[in-house]
Amino acid sequence: MAKDNSLKKIIAHSKEYGFIFQSSEIYDGLSAVYDYGQNGVELKKNIREYWWKAMVYLHENIVGLDAAIFMHPKTWEASGHVGAFNDPLIDNKDSKKRYRADILIEEYREKIQQKINKEVKKGKKRFKENFDETEFLATNPNVLRNQKKIDELTNRFQTALEDDNLDEIRQIIIDCEIACPVSGSKNWTDVRQFNLMFDTKLGSVTGDASKIYLRPETAQGIFVNYLNVQKTGRMKIPFGIAQTGKAFRNEIVARQFVFRMREFEQMEMQFFVRPGEEMKWYEYWKDFRLKWHKSLELGDNKYRFHKHDKLAHYANAAVDIEFDFPMGFKEVEGIHSRTDFDLSQHQKFSGKKLQYYDPELQKSYVPYVVETSIGLDRMFMTILSGAYKEEKITEKGKTTERIVLGIPAALAPVKVAVLPLTKKDGLPDVARKIMDKLKLHFNAQYEVKDSIGKRYRRQDAIGTPFCITIDHKTIEDNTVTLRHRDSMEQERVSISELLKIVTEKVNINNLLEKLI
Ligand code: GAP
Repeated sequence: MAKDNSLKKIIAHSKEYGFIFQSSEIYDGLSAVYDYGQNGVELKKNIREYWWKAMVYLHENIVGLDAAIFMHPKTWEASGHVGAFNDPLIDNKDSKKRYRADILIEEYREKIQQKINKEVKKGKKRFKENFDETEFLATNPNVLRNQKKIDELTNRFQTALEDDNLDEIRQIIIDCEIACPVSGSKNWTDVRQFNLMFDTKLGSVTGDASKIYLRPETAQGIFVNYLNVQKTGRMKIPFGIAQTGKAFRNEIVARQFVFRMREFEQMEMQFFVRPGEEMKWYEYWKDFRLKWHKSLELGDNKYRFHKHDKLAHYANAAVDIEFDFPMGFKEVEGIHSRTDFDLSQHQKFSGKKLQYYDPELQKSYVPYVVETSIGLDRMFMTILSGAYKEEKITEKGKTTERIVLGIPAALAPVKVAVLPLTKKDGLPDVARKIMDKLKLHFNAQYEVKDSIGKRYRRQDAIGTPFCITIDHKTIEDNTVTLRHRDSMEQERVSISELLKIVTEKVNINNLLEKLI
């Protein structure tokens, strides 16, 4: 499947099957804001639950929090967001389209990387089992030429970012002959900084005194509550606080579906550690979070770590977990060693001590923080991208196509569909009894309309792992057909066994057990 095509297909599929709708669609939509439909809301809830259980329940030293979206405006001065939460933007003078200058450069670099990957693919095809990838990468002239380009570009780009040198960022775009994706023109404006925070007014007072911000990250709600939680929960370092919730950013370029939105949800955890021990925990969280992603079995080769070209103002180490989306490898999660920056800043701006007394060391200090931060919507898109499959299938001698979402069973929006074969002969009555029992345990769907084949296709398309068909044999012997989504295999099982079989397969513990 061509990559661009598959993004379009995923967007269309999400709408057709009630996963994601454009916000305010009847008014022609609101750019980069989305609503989750009946299946989307279930999948989103299940991802959130898996994250929560993996972070909070599996770690005895992590607890949860739900802080408000609005915070005292000083919070954002202290955190550095008022002064430095900027993206470099550039406009194309011909198309009048606006872009993030850093992303234009990163995408250009990714294209060179794709050329290398293509050479490797060709090499594999040509040399088959004799192919030595390491040697190929070290000797092939095309690979070496392109790798040199990447290295030179990376060095130049990193230096420009570190120096906040906007002229140099523009010059890189000019020198690399990067063209506007819409007009193909290379007629660029200067690069300018653009602050991403949305502001609004609190209460009825006008003027700057009442200006407050919609939080651009959930993390600060954790920092300002860290002592409340530490004291009331009698937490001992190292310990963590986890939170999920909405965040808002006035993104310059909000494209690629729910990948980059203006209103989105984050799942963040701040882990408070002794100064000097942050690197040990940074490595721990890198490993743990990658394991969490891989547990979903969307393909281990679809993940990679990417070190930041420029560290954020608060970090002394930072890495992204990237996923191979239809538009290429992109960040899904960040792991950041944030030092004592945030707590020290809040201590300074609030005038309140935010130190921890370490009984083992018998001294007080401002803890260091390692953060894991993942976008729930981006994770949603990761799962859709990894799970969407178009398959040719042959049934009863006829070849057709089906679209199936191979979502991990524990996260699937609907766990089981209960399908009486016909509307007659008492089959719906038996099906209803089965449904009434199963719906106490998980999200089940009862469907009687259309042929059984059409109903199977509809359930495949939303990723339902099991379909139960009630037919005439059921009336005779209390057995039903249990159909498995991925293999499409059908087995005859007793009604009394259904709950046990389905529960075992859709249990979220199946995922959690892979993490311990
Ligand atoms: N507290 C750190 C922080 O917010 P970030 O790298 O800016 O770090 C963390 O964001 C995660 O939030 C990203 O890895 C991404 O998954 C998600 N995210 C950030 N901006 C987003 C946006 N505009 N739309 C959707 N998800 C976004």
